[in-house]
Amino acid sequence: MKTVVITGAASGMGLCATKKFLRHNWQVVMADFDEINGQKKADNLATEFPKTKVIFKQTDVSDEQSVQELAKFSQDQFGQIDSIINNAGIFIGGAVHEIKASDWDRIMNVDVKSIFLMTKNFVPAMIKQKSGVIINTASVSGLMGDYNMAAYSAAKGAVVNLVKSMALDYGKYGIRVNNVAPGPTNTPMFQKNPQSVIDKFVAASPMNKIVEPEDIADMMYFLATDEAKSITGQNIPVTAGFGI
Ligand code: NAI
Repeated sequence: MKTVVITGAASGMGLCATKKFLRHNWQVVMADFDEINGQKKADNLATEFPKTKVIFKQTDVSDEQSVQELAKFSQDQFGQIDSIINNAGIFIGGAVHEIKASDWDRIMNVDVKSIFLMTKNFVPAMIKQKSGVIINTASVSGLMGDYNMAAYSAAKGAVVNLVKSMALDYGKYGIRVNNVAPGPTNTPMFQKNPQSVIDKFVAASPMNKIVEPEDIADMMYFLATDEAKSITGQNIPVTAGFGI
């Protein structure tokens, strides 16, 4: 049985990805800051998928010690970790002059430094086992400009370039690294937008829709499997045509 560690697993895309991997009989460590929601979801999923194993671990992906504990916990529970999905993220809007310096730091820590910390703590074992798949959730906002998204675009833009360095450094160990770059996606994060903004995003898709979190989970699962064995260093947009 294979094992994946998914961050931001208590909600949205991370929760959908958890279900997708469990359906395919992977073992899953769900990591999230939100302890109450995450533990409840993990308990329900453990009942729904008795043939495999799902465990929740409260984690702050922006905190070095917390990520170290997650790596130790995951390895103690399951031994080999086959894949990590660095998906946890936050959105803070605004043009540069409107963003508080503390919010700038927070978004960089949660959306970018988390990937550094997760990789730093999980990749040594992957190097030893000479296999592994790392998947990061970037965003179309890291590929294009948009209004009121300065900090978020900068953070996701860093993720868009980081994937290339990581794929170059770890390819020789049989480790693949890719990003999924979602367009506007129907999760609690996106649903916080006013209806007028949601309508604007729907209208900007040639398919007249936003992406569903299950669509992102499907791409994450594909990238984690051998079907994607020759894909690395890529930033794969899943956008319903938004931003083309
Ligand atoms: P969401 O808000 O539904 O889920 C995010 C999860 O991350 C939450 O459960 C939250 O508790 C967790 N989280 C936040 N900070 C954390 C921390 N410091 N440590 C651990 N967990 C933390 O959001 P969604 O939409 O599922 O987002 C997933 C990823 O997709 C994020 O990286 C986001 O930036 C990205 N994304 C989202 C888009 C959208 O339209 N929803 C579009 C493009 C990218």
